[in-house]
Amino acid sequence: MTVVTAPGKLILCGEHAVVYGRPAIALPLTQVCAQIEVVDAPSGSGVIFDAPDVQRRWTLAEEPDDPASELVEHLLNRIGGEYSVRNLDLQITITSVIPIAGGLGSGAAVATALLRAVSTHLAYDLSREEVSKLVYESEQRFHGTPSGIDNTVIAYEQPIWFCRSSDYNPWQNVAPSVKRSTHPTIEPILIAKPLTLLIGDTGIRSETRLPVDEVKQRRERHVLHYESLFDAVGAVTKYIRTALAEGDLAALGLLLNNNHLLLQQIGVSSTELDQLVDAALDEGALGAKLSGAGWGGVMLALVETPQVQRVAQALTEAGAVKVHKIQVARTSTS
Ligand code: PMV
Repeated sequence: MTVVTAPGKLILCGEHAVVYGRPAIALPLTQVCAQIEVVDAPSGSGVIFDAPDVQRRWTLAEEPDDPASELVEHLLNRIGGEYSVRNLDLQITITSVIPIAGGLGSGAAVATALLRAVSTHLAYDLSREEVSKLVYESEQRFHGTPSGIDNTVIAYEQPIWFCRSSDYNPWQNVAPSVKRSTHPTIEPILIAKPLTLLIGDTGIRSETRLPVDEVKQRRERHVLHYESLFDAVGAVTKYIRTALAEGDLAALGLLLNNNHLLLQQIGVSSTELDQLVDAALDEGALGAKLSGAGWGGVMLALVETPQVQRVAQALTEAGAVKVHKIQVARTSTS
């Protein structure tokens, strides 16, 4: 039996603008994980998937277009040799405590754990780069124009600075995925002081591609306005990197607030997200913003230890269905 887990992710700053070539910062979330268990199945049974959390059971042969089926098929094509969909008998059990469509990277975490579990079970060495690339291709098929930040932070499992390509040209009005020609910039980031973040979950599930599509359409109608908003988010993200490197938590808090204001202007916040952000700030959080695609999902608040209890309670009273406390450790980039 092979058991593999993959973490969720949290976007600290830069979401949406990252689709349009600006940088973003993301953190792996080891507190919430997806888990894949692989065992050999009786001969002739094929590849069977079991996802008890969502009460689904299917086979690769019956549902080849399912995202998990497609990923396993692409992996087998890559491995080649003796393995093929036709002669492999596996039982794959998918479980995850990461809420689906909740802004914490559930899809990319399941996909990452699935690729690692099946490749480990078949004794095939799959690099982080290959995992990230296969997950990115899968997200492209099912979510439209992903920036690539989710698959990257989950595959590398460390805080990252991510920028999809250095040759992005905002004035070339074509879908971002079409012009993604160069490799993204992926850099580990320096975090000089440990951070305590509270994640407040609105409980509202919103598929990533809906706000991403809406932003794309609005940008096409008002290119200058949206490009200037993305530039502003990119500038805030650069200052956030500096604040993290200098351990300046007060500045970090203000910059997170600034990023939230810009996300409101981009049009991806919601009444529920704003209520949680306001509640956290009222109780003394240093900063707060929505995280991920928006319209639902989660927000994050940067808190100092004495405020943790009060802010967590305020988030629950303001409607959060779940509050996660996460500690982000110091890093060194050397
Ligand atoms: O919905 P999430 O948490 O996967 O976040 C999406 C982040 C976006 O920047 C809105 C889209 C992307 O692909 O980067």
